[in-house]
This record gives sequence, structure tokens and C-alpha cells, in this order.
Amino acid sequence: MLVTGGAGFIGSHVADAFLAAGWDVTIIDNLSRGRPENLPRAAEFRCLDIGSEEARDLVAKGGFEVIAHLAAQVDVRVSVADPLLDAEENILALLNILEGARHGGVRRLVFSSSGGVVYGERPPPHLETAPKLPISPYGVTKLAAEYYLACFRQLYGIDTVALRYSNVYGPRQDPHGEAGVVAIFGSRLRDRRAITIYGDGEQTRDYVYCGDVARANLLAADVVLPEPDGTLDGPAFNVGTGVQTSVNALARAMITASGMDVPVEHEPERRGELRANALVIDKAARVLGWRPEVSLHDGLRATYEWIVKGSD
Ligand SMILES: NC(=O)c1ccc[n+]([C@@H]2O[C@H](COP(=O)([O-])OP(=O)(O)OC[C@H]3O[C@@H](n4cnc5c(N)ncnc54)[C@H](O)[C@@H]3O)[C@@H](O)[C@H]2O)c1
Repeated sequence: MLVTGGAGFIGSHVADAFLAAGWDVTIIDNLSRGRPENLPRAAEFRCLDIGSEEARDLVAKGGFEVIAHLAAQVDVRVSVADPLLDAEENILALLNILEGARHGGVRRLVFSSSGGVVYGERPPPHLETAPKLPISPYGVTKLAAEYYLACFRQLYGIDTVALRYSNVYGPRQDPHGEAGVVAIFGSRLRDRRAITIYGDGEQTRDYVYCGDVARANLLAADVVLPEPDGTLDGPAFNVGTGVQTSVNALARAMITASGMDVPVEHEPERRGELRANALVIDKAARVLGWRPEVSLHDGLRATYEWIVKGSD
């Protein structure tokens, strides 16, 4: 099987999960954000851009049964500043991989979509069938990618599945730049610096542990899918916990999990942030047999320990 973006945060955990389940794993990553130290030793690594002809050739000739597609432009703010770049990575490069996949007889492609952006600002929790109201170019490209998958499924019979993650956290998440809040809080605690919360801190997110997300990818590789129904609503599953945690509560939980204590400071609210998010995960439980298994406390503890060590 092939993992695109396997040197990145979530992709490296996905590669680990498939290796642990006995699969042969090849990884493509251009190392634009991913790190060589995230690559599992047992995987074969090809340093390639997913938009390149070499990557398409590899997918077409590599004999892969399953692809987990995670390589992407992942930053909402970059997508606003440079929507062309976002579309190149998240649509054109995806099409490059899909074209390789249809010529290569790939059985299934599991796509990393986002439940944090496709549903927009309606009050949570969101069902998969909720209206799709993305408010950023990144949200639009994730949704457009899902439509392309459904279209390729109907045209060429490649089975495609979209997993819509909520806010994923855990070891190997990059705390620099536009990173997850857990990685940022963790590195502040390690450095004994104050934690900064923007706005009143009552904005909520649904935090799901990376190992649970990796297991969802593994289950999605083999789940029996319904026949295409002629619409562009392809098979999609929310992957979260269903629990809303405020940033204030997250900061308290991270302080407890780390055993450290630092001041918490508030800065003015950042514009364009969703006020609340959480996903309904009943469909993943029912169809994939998936439920999150790692509690927020245990996940935060594992993440903090990794941040302190600085590596696996
Ligand atoms: N982190 C989250 O909370 C979250 C939530 C919803 C969806 N997702 C999706 O999950 C996937 C993985 O996200 P992540 O948080 O692990 O990000 P990440 O940046 O750690 O991983 C992305 C990987 O893709 C690689 N990559 C980027 N562009 C590439 C290209 N053109 N060719 C080859 N490799 C390329 C990067 O080097 C990196 O290793 C993305 O598709 C992202 O949109 C993440």
C-alpha cells in the first residue's frame, strides 16, 4: 500500500498502523513539511512531489492495492493568501494521483478530508449529511476533492472513501507556524512559558488522537462500501470524538497532563476562527466499527512526553 504525506504528522502514524497490521508500505513525500525522522524504517520511502509525473508513474506501475492520501497543503491561512497554490496541491496533485490510481488498478483510495472545514459555521455537532458550507479555499478544495473521488468511483470503479477528521493531535505534530494548539501549548509548557489563548477561550473543538485516526484509515481500507448511487456524495465518515472541548478546558487539561504550571494569558480574538466544532461519529462506529479509544488526558500526556523527548 502507498501513503502519500507519510513523513508528516498524521501520515507517519497511518504508515505505522498499516505496517503493524502486516502491510507492505511505500511512502511518497516531498518533505516540504514532513520530517525524515517521522518515516518508519520498515517503509520504503520515495522523495517525490505528488504533482509530479514520477509520482503518477509510481502509482500507475507500483501495484498498490490501497492508497492513503494525506499529502496536501494543510494551512487554512495559506489557502486564503494563495488559493492557486492550495488548489494545485489539493486538487491538481490529487487528480495526478487519481489518474495514476485508475491506470494502476488501485482497489481503494482513503482520503484525508476535514470535518473542521467542510461544514462551516452552523452549530455543531455535524452529521456527514449536514449542508456543506466551507468558508475558506482550503475547505472548498477538501470538498471538491471529495467530489472528484466520488466521480472517479463512478467512472472507473476505484473505491474511494473520505475520512473527515476533526482536530487531530498527538506526537510528531509540528508546533511551529500554523500548528495544532496542543503542540503549541505543549512546547510552551516544556519551555515554562505562558500559554496564550486568543479571545475568551470558550471556542470549542473536537480533539481526536492521531493513533485513533490512523486506525480509522486502516479500517477504511477494507470496509465494504455501498454501490455508487449516482450522486457525488461518496462514502464519507466523520472521525472525531463527538466531544466539544473549549480552549480554556484544553489548557487546563494540558497543564494537568504535563504536571507543569505556567500562567495563561489572553490575547484579542483572531478573526475568521470557527466558534465551535464537533462531529457526530455514529456512522464510523456503525459502518467502520471505529470508535476513538484514547482519552483526552492519556493523549495529551503521550503528546507532552513526546514533546519533552523531542523524538520517538
Ligand atoms: N492535522 C489535522 O488536525 C487535520 C485535520 C483534518 C484534515 N487533515 C488532513 O490530514 C492530512 C495530513 O495532515 P497533517 O496534519 O499530518 O499535515 P502535515 O503537514 O504534517 O503532513 C502533510 C505531509 O504532506 C507532505 N506534502 C505536502 N505537499 C506535498 C506534495 N506536493 N508532494 C508530496 N508530499 C507533500 C508534507 O511534506 C507533509 O509530510 C492533510 O491532508 C490534512 O489536510 C489534518
